[in-house]
Amino acid sequence: MAERGVSILSLGEMGPGVSESLAADGFVVHAVPAQPLAGILEAHGAEIRGVMTRGQVPVDAALLAALPALEMVANFGVGYDSVDVAAAASRGVAVSNTPEVLDDEVADLAVGLLLATIRQLPQADRHARGGHWERGAFPLSGTLRGRTVGILGMGRIGQAIARRVAAFDVPVVYHARRAVEGVTWRHYPTLLGMAEAVDTLVAIVPGGAATRHLIGAEVLAALGPNGVVVNVARGSVVDEDALIAALQSGALHAAGLDVFADEPRIRPELLALPNVVVMPHVGSATHHTRGRMAALVAENVRSWFAGRGLVTPVAA
Ligand code: NAP
Ligand code: 8YV
Repeated sequence: MAERGVSILSLGEMGPGVSESLAADGFVVHAVPAQPLAGILEAHGAEIRGVMTRGQVPVDAALLAALPALEMVANFGVGYDSVDVAAAASRGVAVSNTPEVLDDEVADLAVGLLLATIRQLPQADRHARGGHWERGAFPLSGTLRGRTVGILGMGRIGQAIARRVAAFDVPVVYHARRAVEGVTWRHYPTLLGMAEAVDTLVAIVPGGAATRHLIGAEVLAALGPNGVVVNVARGSVVDEDALIAALQSGALHAAGLDVFADEPRIRPELLALPNVVVMPHVGSATHHTRGRMAALVAENVRSWFAGRGLVTPVAA
């Protein structure tokens, strides 16, 4: 049984009934955007012991300093690059995320986006919907046939993507810093080495400093003019200037993007390109999976304040 009267700061909507069910269990939830963050911090900063966040507001050293009683941060999402985990650890604040419950959903979206990009599904939909078919057939598209898919990141979601792509009878290889035990797809120790060997790259690594602009001009050039990039990782993983230049010049065939450097804003140059398919960061965005993620966020909060620790802690 969790303590009653514990103050929680909710940074963004946590999904179906999370705040309500925590309130029913005796938590006091102060939610942004229903209330402005500055007002919550001024009135309740000293008593807030838990934060729930979904990534739009950085949980950085400044915010942590404004919450002196903070014990835990529950991140809604498996990627927690918006949380300064080192700064949290230095204050003794534990951090949780939502792994596994979204693997299949995000992998489904990645493969859908891959096909949509190569077969130009949104463009074909626009052609049919716009009445253009009566004036002429939709142009022939690129194909998945004959391609080799390189996956950047072979963790939980990367493996789920690899299984799906392999079912399309397409060769799969991957790059991660370490080869994954038990994974039989060929491992490339460098991303550039893999990019030289494939024409299709799917990114599913964490965001943050270590992966910033991993996919830059050199990697894009290695993929070549038939190259396709699908990014379901984080916008920061791709150098958008280099991507736009490659797509505009024909040095890269196409891109499918679920994530962007400056979400929710998308660069107008990307939107103007006919060979780009964009999604508004919807990898996990189904009722089913967002419900499971929300439940796991609430479970972490309850478990911590019942003295049982976090259910899904991230490594500090
Ligand atoms: P995971 O199980 O931790 O796997 C991460 C993979 O990335 C591992 O294979 C890891 O291997 C590799 N990696 C990490 N840093 C790397 C680096 N610097 N260079 C090369 N490879 C690196 O994570 P996951 O659950 O699959 O999730 C992956 C990421 O997907 C999340 O962090 C999030 O950013 C993103 N995501 C996006 C959506 C969406 O809606 N679009 C949804 C869910 C997740 P090594 O450590 O051996 O390098
Ligand atoms: C979420 C994600 O949409 O889990 C992740 O890392 O990117 C997505 O599942 C996001 O974290 C919540 O806004």
